[in-house]
Amino acid sequence: MANLFVIPKYIFTGKDALNLASDNIKKLGKKALIVTDDMMVKLGSVKRLTDLLDSISVNYEIYSKVNSEPTDKMVSEGIEIYKNDNCNFLIAVGGGSPIDTMKAIGAMITNTGKITDYLGKVIPNDPPPLVTIPTTAGTGSEATQFTIIADTEKNIKMLLKGPNLMSTIAIVDPVFTSTAPPKVTAATGIDALTHAIESYTSRKAQPMSNIFALSAVKRIFKNLLRAYKNGDDMTARTELSIAALEAGIAFNNASVTIVHGMSRPIGALYHVPHGLSNAMLLSECLKFALLGAPEKFCDLASEIGGYKEGMSYIQAGKVFVGEVEKLCKSLDIQTLEEFGVNKGLFFKNLDKMTEDALASGSPQNTMRIPSSEDIKDIYKALWK
Ligand SMILES: NC(=O)c1ccc[n+]([C@@H]2O[C@H](COP(=O)([O-])OP(=O)(O)OC[C@H]3O[C@@H](n4cnc5c(N)ncnc54)[C@H](O)[C@@H]3O)[C@@H](O)[C@H]2O)c1
Ligand SMILES: [Fe+2]
Repeated sequence: MANLFVIPKYIFTGKDALNLASDNIKKLGKKALIVTDDMMVKLGSVKRLTDLLDSISVNYEIYSKVNSEPTDKMVSEGIEIYKNDNCNFLIAVGGGSPIDTMKAIGAMITNTGKITDYLGKVIPNDPPPLVTIPTTAGTGSEATQFTIIADTEKNIKMLLKGPNLMSTIAIVDPVFTSTAPPKVTAATGIDALTHAIESYTSRKAQPMSNIFALSAVKRIFKNLLRAYKNGDDMTARTELSIAALEAGIAFNNASVTIVHGMSRPIGALYHVPHGLSNAMLLSECLKFALLGAPEKFCDLASEIGGYKEGMSYIQAGKVFVGEVEKLCKSLDIQTLEEFGVNKGLFFKNLDKMTEDALASGSPQNTMRIPSSEDIKDIYKALWK
């Protein structure tokens, strides 16, 4: 079977990656639109970038009104600045939210109509060059062809895609993640772990994505708790930033499965951050998925040293799922109840959530394809 494998054109990783990328950035044009959020401005992360741009005589404008739920309105505001100020390319500094917003702005510079017109379609025309600088070791958006934007009229999260939404340059410099507080480190790290596990156990997994998925799982198990406990541990931060990139590469080429499919409705209805809603679902979903891919879960157990000679695939898979549970516990992942979701409302919304989860198409990539009853049972199990 033939497979397509898509990655960014240039990837810079490790300490001082930003400096190493300067010649490549300079070639992209005279003026950049920087897309970011206020936190990145406050923390000095944007200044780190603008200092570099000043030193290589690249001009810039800054759009910093992104928050943790990117919307079509933010995209329109960004487009206006880009066009009014005659920018030539875009740079995102931030977590998945500013990166996704930047991709959508880029798409709408070269494509007609509104961003909401492209739901369910592939973005046709190439955007201007896109530079991504992730500040969370999480979404992997720096290496994906996806952007998730809320349609504020219909109140849904749109997943938009196109291979041309891939970064021209991904700069994965751990210095940008070092300021992430423990809660953000935990949730975004589990998001990356979810990408890696889902892509490895997906029906769409391919040899090239498997390499990146396994490597990401190993790095995350070794380093996530370390970075959570000590945000200044730069070895752990560096490893995690690479793991998130690997996991992004993996799921970009193999798709996500049941966890992400079920996670989006929780995010849309109760405003639970993306990584946290994945973390809440992870253990129950993996217990379900394990029965459809025991050999794959056994590989995952081996990767983290959980496989012992003589174990059956299922036994080893259970060890892996148990280790994921332990990790989530050590990271103090909140339950839905602790987050403040209303149980009555959650149960009232079960049918809609189940429909939306299945409509996303992601659960169907799981080796054991869930029925709507299965999905409902997993949602209910989150309240046990
Ligand atoms: N495009 C994709 O392939 C893809 C994949 C998964 C998720 N997503 C999307 O990404 C978004 C989530 O992104 P995220 O989890 O990276 O979080 P985020 O970008 O929403 O940021 C979460 C919070 O953490 C803060 N933060 C980020 N980096 C920080 C740092 N280094 N120091 C201090 N604070 C920091 C932000 O200011 C914000 O308050 C969601 O909208 C989700 O839908 C996209
Ligand atoms: Fe994700």
